Parts: sequence; structure tokens; C-alpha cells
Amino acid sequence: MKALILMGSPRQHGNTAALLAPFCRELRGGGMEVEMVCLYDRTIRPCCACRSCQSSWDVFGCSQKDDVQEIADSIFCSDLLVLATPIYSWYCTPPMKALLDRLVYGMNKFYGEKRGPSLWKGKAMALLLTCGYPPEKGADLFIEGMQRYAKHSGLQYLGSHTERHMGYDTVFMDSGKENRTRAFARELLEQR
Ligand SMILES: Cc1cc2nc3c(=O)[nH]c(=O)nc-3n(C[C@H](O)[C@H](O)[C@H](O)COP(=O)(O)O)c2cc1C
Repeated sequence: MKALILMGSPRQHGNTAALLAPFCRELRGGGMEVEMVCLYDRTIRPCCACRSCQSSWDVFGCSQKDDVQEIADSIFCSDLLVLATPIYSWYCTPPMKALLDRLVYGMNKFYGEKRGPSLWKGKAMALLLTCGYPPEKGADLFIEGMQRYAKHSGLQYLGSHTERHMGYDTVFMDSGKENRTRAFARELLEQR
């Protein structure tokens, strides 16, 4: 069983990273293989809507030559995708949004002359989020969007966990956040 963490924060030692440390430890402790891709270290161009991916139903097939094909290959080898991101303007950060757009077309062959398959159908998805507003007002729209994205793509949506950041002059991580994040990882292990 393998988890692929798509890490969407530009701050490699920030709040999302602080949640990921115990989260990944717990997954690995439960026997999961864990791979992490830091999206800000990769080149991920926006989808240009050329739709060339729709002419091949057995491969990802994007015409753009950047790091997304390699990320798609890692997704094909994974059972669980974890989108780990701070909330920026009520959604995920820009490289994650660009990746989601590239994947929703390249993986879902729904947009050509005939409707084709979802190449990632059946894989699981979960969200690990940080935001500044109370989670029900900060992370709700992204959670809703990803639930719809998962349903549309044939992915199994397993759930989300959000922790609030009270400001850059405060210490983010504490034992409560660590314990809740580890409990979320255990929930995911139980669902697989
Ligand atoms: C450009 C920017 C936009 C943000 N937009 C939101 C937002 O819409 N809602 C929210 O609750 N928090 C927002 N935040 C706060 C971050 O989500 C929060 O500080 C988060 O914990 C940062 O995580 P990081 O340390 O991993 O980058 C924003 C922060 C930045 C820098």
C-alpha cells in the first residue's frame, strides 16, 4: 500500500510541513510506503486546454513537457493521494491548482468526441489542510470542491483534516494538533 503526498506549501518548514511530519510517521508506522512530492520544487505549467490528452485513452498523454508526467507516473503507482496544502484565497495554492487542472483532463478521458475511462478510478484521496480562518470558513470551499472532483474522477474520497494557524507571531504546532493529525492518519489506514 503506497501513499503519495502532494505537498502544496511554499514553506518547506511551515505549518503544512509541521502537520506532515507526524502524519507521515503514523502512515509509515502502519505499514504504508510514503512518497512526497513538493510541488513548489517542480515545474507544473497550467493546462492550456489543447485537449491532446483526450486522443489517447490508455496514457496520461499531456503534450506539455514538464514534471507533471513524472507526478502522473507516481500516481499510477499509488493507492492513496494526499493533498497537503495551506488554503490560499479559499482554495489550494497555485501549483496544486495547476496540477489538479492537468490531472482532471489527462486522467479523465471524458472530454473528447466519445466519453472514455478515468485512468485513476478507484484510487483514494484525502486532504490535509491548514488555514488562518476557522476551518469551516477557511477550508470549506476547497473541501467541497475536492469532494466533487473526486466523485467526478471516480476517486474514493476518504476525508479531510484541517488545523488552524492563529498568526505568524504564534507557535503553530502543539500536542493537540499532533495528536489529531496522527488520529487522522490512523483513520486513513483503517479505511484502506
Ligand atoms: C497568500 C495567502 C493567502 C491566504 N488565504 C487564506 C484564506 O483564504 N483562508 C484562510 O483561512 N487562510 C488563508 N491564508 C493563511 C494560510 O492558509 C495559513 O497561514 C497556513 O497555515 C499557512 O501554511 P504554511 O505555513 O504551510 O504555508 C493565506 C495565506 C497566504 C500567504
